[in-house]
Amino acid sequence: MTKKTQKSAAASGLEGVVAAETVLSQVNGAEGRLIIAGLDLADLVDTYDFEGVLARLWTLAGTPCDRGDVKAALGAARVEAFAAATSLAGRCAGRPIVEGLREGLAALSDEGDLPAHIRLTGAAPVLVASLARTAAGTEPVAPDPTLGHAEDYLRMLHGKAPTDAAIRAMDTYLMTVSDHGMNASTFTARVIASTDAKQVSAIVGGLCALKGPLHGGAPGPVLDMLDAIGTKANAVAWVQGALDRGERLMGFGHRIYRVRDPRADMLGREVTRLGDAVNERAAFALHVEETAKTLLKAHKPDRPLDTNVEFYTALLLEALDIPRDAFTPTFAIGRVAGWTAHVMEQERTGRLIRPSASYIGVVPDGRDAA
Ligand code: ACO
Repeated sequence: MTKKTQKSAAASGLEGVVAAETVLSQVNGAEGRLIIAGLDLADLVDTYDFEGVLARLWTLAGTPCDRGDVKAALGAARVEAFAAATSLAGRCAGRPIVEGLREGLAALSDEGDLPAHIRLTGAAPVLVASLARTAAGTEPVAPDPTLGHAEDYLRMLHGKAPTDAAIRAMDTYLMTVSDHGMNASTFTARVIASTDAKQVSAIVGGLCALKGPLHGGAPGPVLDMLDAIGTKANAVAWVQGALDRGERLMGFGHRIYRVRDPRADMLGREVTRLGDAVNERAAFALHVEETAKTLLKAHKPDRPLDTNVEFYTALLLEALDIPRDAFTPTFAIGRVAGWTAHVMEQERTGRLIRPSASYIGVVPDGRDAA
């Protein structure tokens, strides 16, 4: 028996591989430009709210709807989801919120009065808020179907009406992370959709891919890093120490962007709009960001490593008083928009995604693998 030692020709991370055609979003990593639903990110965020973005994405994916339809349907879906949220939260006590969300979404059906993409999108904030409140020892708060998605999420989470600035910041966050090309979780959702497994399975799969720290699990560790650094004076020593130990700095680097992630600018703008209460923390974070960028440049001169969306996600969600354990689940509340639209788009192709692998293992008859 011989073992083939030649390295696989396939890039280990599929970089550069075009896995689908999409009208939903485009990530231009060289220019730092993000188009979502046919608009540049800044125009989208300044023109629409989350319901408006959902309507654009779902319409582009082949399910025509307008913002008003979406708002009403999501309100109904939040109310429907609340019935199961309290028992879910009790059952999942003591576990990470993202695991409770995974279980809550997996329990949903593809069949019912509401379409599955509406049921999933509506359920996400209800489940996250109920899980977070139960973890904090407080009772879940029922949804208000008349409110916008962002406002109702904050209200259910905190048990009181949010400020206009907080609603705007959360709405901006959900729109900003709503879709982002063929990222790992969207690819996962599309692979599952390509087997005709339907929305619920695809979205649960997407969430499973999102939760890792190399993808949507980074913002909690970003705050852990800021806490560990503690003071501006400690920034250089801490960051250099981490790099010397071969650790990755959370909130920096990206597979596609070679310049600053445009979502970081969008969220950074919202952080400063939240005003005095977060200014000191924001100034400290900015100092750490600049320190990290300088030291990363010296550490990897040939590999541009700039700030990604997760650095400012962490700051924004902290400023909005979202519990750290709910950061990744809050990302999912926004990204379910893109996942559900990509599932629709994939289903319309009717084509199974089934790539190949280059076999580098043992061939029993002693010949090298072809
Ligand atoms: N800190 C330190 N070094 C880094 C970082 C980082 N944040 N990111 C990449 N590098 C280094 C790698 O160690 C690697 O070095 P090597 O060539 O000596 O092995 C080199 O830069 C290239 O890294 P790759 O892993 O090839 O780059 P890739 O495109 O696969 O990585 C990723 C992208 C996973 C996001 C990476 O930059 C990373 O781990 N960042 C930290 C985690 C993070 O912020 N995740 C959120 C991403 S945004 C999102 O998904 C929503």
